[in-house]
Amino acid sequence: MIAARSSKQIAAWSSYWSEGNITSLPNLFADNYSGDVLRFWDEAFATLEEDGRVLEICAGNGAIAYLARDHADRRGIRIEIHAIDVAEIQLCSRQGDDSTINDVQFHSGVAVEASHCRNDYFDLIAGQFAIEYCSIPEAVEELSRIIRKNGSLILMVHHADSATAQRTRHFVDVADIFLKAPTIFYRLRKYAKPHIGRKRIDARKAPQKRQQLMGLRRLSRAVPDVPFEVFAYLAKSIDGVVLVAGPPVR
Ligand SMILES: C[S@@+](CC[C@H](N)C(=O)[O-])C[C@H]1O[C@@H](n2cnc3c(N)ncnc32)[C@H](O)[C@@H]1O
Repeated sequence: MIAARSSKQIAAWSSYWSEGNITSLPNLFADNYSGDVLRFWDEAFATLEEDGRVLEICAGNGAIAYLARDHADRRGIRIEIHAIDVAEIQLCSRQGDDSTINDVQFHSGVAVEASHCRNDYFDLIAGQFAIEYCSIPEAVEELSRIIRKNGSLILMVHHADSATAQRTRHFVDVADIFLKAPTIFYRLRKYAKPHIGRKRIDARKAPQKRQQLMGLRRLSRAVPDVPFEVFAYLAKSIDGVVLVAGPPVR
């Protein structure tokens, strides 16, 4: 069975790739992965031989597939490269021109768990930030079917203590608040509304503001496993609250 994936998730990734991003970390790698990541994949591709077949899974706009293409071009060998993703992905300007001898074949709307690729086909299957998005038992079964005997499956995943994993855990905590207290935005907006656009709070309004902050604290107490700082973080995210600068609230 394929992992239950909402059409909203797929649409979100399709929209992301439609913007022309080549990697999923555009702030760090705008043109494609470089440095240690590139060295890692170059080492992996060193085992490829003429007529080898490579598949990139969860490929987005094909960052790793293009690294395989560039690697094979540099070595002057011809290989067959495919890139699949369950979302809608794009053919971008990196596709082969006169300077390349290889190109990448893209397949949108293809889930790893049901790739419909041929049995025993690929010499190397590559996935970066990929398998963790899939239903792992089904994905492993499918990949075992389509990889050749003695082929390589090379997956890069985030380390559990990496900055990305830590940041994501923090966002999960924040998202939890919405599940446990879905009215929080409404309440924060109500709290911020009187102050929007003001530099200072009228001193007479201070008790009211204090009262509102108490409301936040009560809300925080109602969800005890979420630290108050997370609520404060949410409050700061609202322009009106950020603009508030008045008598200190005790
Ligand atoms: C974090 S992106 C990785 C993109 C690229 N590999 C990179 O390193 O920049 C994860 C991708 O996995 C795709 N995806 C999620 N579940 C999938 C599945 N079951 N089968 C195929 N693609 C999937 C998403 O659509 C998304 O494009």
